[in-house]
Amino acid sequence: MSRRDRVRRAGRGSRSRDMRDSHNNGGDVRVSEEHEQQQKPPCTDFDMAYFHSYAHVGIHEEMIKDRVRTETYKAAITRYQSSIAGKVVVDVGCGTGILSIFCAQAGAKRVYAVDASDIAVQATEVVKANKLSEVVIDVEIDEEVDVIISEWMGYMLLYESMLGSVITARDRWLKPGGLILPSHAMLYMAPITHTDRYSDSIDFWRNVYGIDMSAMLPLAKQCAFEEPCVETITGENVLTWPHVVKHVDCYTVTIHELESVTTRYKFKSMMRAPLHGFAFWFDVEFNGPIVSPTNSHSSSWLVDNLPLDGTQRRKRTNPNEAIILSTAPEDPPTHWQQTLIYFYDPIEVEQDQLIEGSLTLSQSKENRRFMNIHLEYASGGRSFVKESVMR
Ligand SMILES: C[S@@+](CC[C@H](N)C(=O)[O-])C[C@H]1O[C@@H](n2cnc3c(N)ncnc32)[C@H](O)[C@@H]1O
Repeated sequence: MSRRDRVRRAGRGSRSRDMRDSHNNGGDVRVSEEHEQQQKPPCTDFDMAYFHSYAHVGIHEEMIKDRVRTETYKAAITRYQSSIAGKVVVDVGCGTGILSIFCAQAGAKRVYAVDASDIAVQATEVVKANKLSEVVIDVEIDEEVDVIISEWMGYMLLYESMLGSVITARDRWLKPGGLILPSHAMLYMAPITHTDRYSDSIDFWRNVYGIDMSAMLPLAKQCAFEEPCVETITGENVLTWPHVVKHVDCYTVTIHELESVTTRYKFKSMMRAPLHGFAFWFDVEFNGPIVSPTNSHSSSWLVDNLPLDGTQRRKRTNPNEAIILSTAPEDPPTHWQQTLIYFYDPIEVEQDQLIEGSLTLSQSKENRRFMNIHLEYASGGRSFVKESVMR
């Protein structure tokens, strides 16, 4: 079962555990359960179900076994060791405590390992077993911190809406000039062709053991493509360079800004192919805080210089220096895979044909962890609208 399946299928849970805390040799790792009562909006039944989903070992196993993810975080902690050693860190959503322990091993003076899920019980044990703790009950963060670390990214970057918790932690505890890891994120979209996938789910019904089952087609399309799909594609499925849907600067982003994200896009297909839908993926970058007064952010992405005509493509000023966790189709696979929004019917596009429209991603009013997707697309004189919910 994937991370998303666990999050979406979680039953109602309870968060009744006491805050707990631990500290020890050189590094002081404090494990607590961060109650959302401290944050706004207050914890709902959906939040409780969400945190309950993170009490299952499988979701943590999947994340930790994702070596691209975990080793990139470790590399970032090593890169910023001089900003972590002797400093106070908060790990927002510590899970099993792995990133907190990496920070303690990097010499942090104290790490507040915060999690609202019952997995905090195991985190405490893991910290103890690694001689990084001594249990202290009922701890709250009552000091400013030098570093915030968090693995908050959901599918399509914004699903789960966990970034809001990082923003809350930043505004409450981070010292001016403090470090946030990761520091920046980019969500991309690109048109894709995926004939095998379409045939497997749809064309299959045209001839089933010699029987014409085409009557199944409307239902098959609805069941296969109504919701976004989390799947792995390759660079060969992608019809042109991606478009930047959203650039997030974790030093400045606001909760309000994430409630709804709208972008207009324009692509030019690089080949003749059936267009089956759009793929979404993201990168996060581990950078320091603002360094140049002439730059509005410190990211090495040249977003502001990119044209808004669908030819947007990430460009790094110094690719050797930036530590980047990428979930792009051309990069090694991660547990996030890519998120696909398929059309019910493909559109035949010619080389250089324009594909344009707009996209709005908004937090669901029913459950802010879910994401409403409003997609408008037009090509070859025909236009469509597709509404879906990532739940
Ligand atoms: C994606 S997991 C990351 C776990 C761990 N940091 C790792 O890298 O393996 C996110 C964790 O954040 C926790 N979490 C999400 N929102 C939170 C909040 N507002 N307060 C406390 N914990 C939160 C979840 O319970 C979950 O354990």
